[in-house]
Amino acid sequence: MNHLAVITGTHRGLGHALAKHMLSTGRYMVWGISRYNEIEHPNFHFHQTDLSSSDAVDSLPDIPTHFHSYTLIHNAGILQPIAPAHRIQPTELQRIYQINILSAHLLSAWFIRQTLPVTASKHILHISSGAGRYPVTHWSAYCATKAALDMLSQCLALEYPQYRVYALAPGMVDTDMQSFIRSHTPDTFPEVQRFKSAKELNQLLDPLMVSNKIIHLIENSTTSLPVKISIKDL
Ligand SMILES: NC(=O)c1ccc[n+]([C@@H]2O[C@H](COP(=O)([O-])OP(=O)(O)OC[C@H]3O[C@@H](n4cnc5c(N)ncnc54)[C@H](OP(=O)(O)O)[C@@H]3O)[C@@H](O)[C@H]2O)c1
Repeated sequence: MNHLAVITGTHRGLGHALAKHMLSTGRYMVWGISRYNEIEHPNFHFHQTDLSSSDAVDSLPDIPTHFHSYTLIHNAGILQPIAPAHRIQPTELQRIYQINILSAHLLSAWFIRQTLPVTASKHILHISSGAGRYPVTHWSAYCATKAALDMLSQCLALEYPQYRVYALAPGMVDTDMQSFIRSHTPDTFPEVQRFKSAKELNQLLDPLMVSNKIIHLIENSTTSLPVKISIKDL
């Protein structure tokens, strides 16, 4: 248990799989930053946090300095609202920007402040999306926040060369987020059939497989990888 991983969104989906997988190796202490929790493990610390709140990061405790490596994984994210831009309510926009990008920026700054003096292997991994790299109809908020996450990661990599920073597009992962996408009709989401077909053709990725690749990335990261990566690069 020489490694500390701080992971957001450990309640469900990819974040849950990542936390469980890291804990199962016996090498990690995991801090889960989420609204709810079902993980019980002696090496798991749950910090109940709603990332839609602007002061979410303020209540986090100091990070102990005795670990061999430190990793922040900002995985929590939401996709809603799916709607044409002129129909999106200001409160909906504020919520998605707060969770997907503002909290990522605040958490990264907190994590760097806490770990900057420590001599150890240090990683910041932002879970981005292909939708931050190409436009998707009625996903303007999601696409914009994920594109911002990519740029945040690139700036942090420049400013802090002692940290390995990545923005990872994880591919289509079989989680609640994909079920939410498929629950739409072509009226509300014109590209929905592409996602229904991917599910029918069994093309969605297993969260455990994706988490395995992420752990391998953290434990074997090389300078040859750029900051903006996708699951196909791993
Ligand atoms: N699934 C895909 O195909 C796919 C593709 C590309 C990128 N991604 C990205 O991958 C990441 C994980 O997605 P997923 O598929 O695992 O999504 P998911 O199944 O919807 O899970 C999202 C996670 O974020 C947490 N979360 C949401 N709102 C929160 C809040 N206000 N405060 C704290 N935690 C909150 C959720 O916890 P609660 O139970 O509290 O809501 C949950 O643990 C996201 O950043 C997503 O954008 C996913």
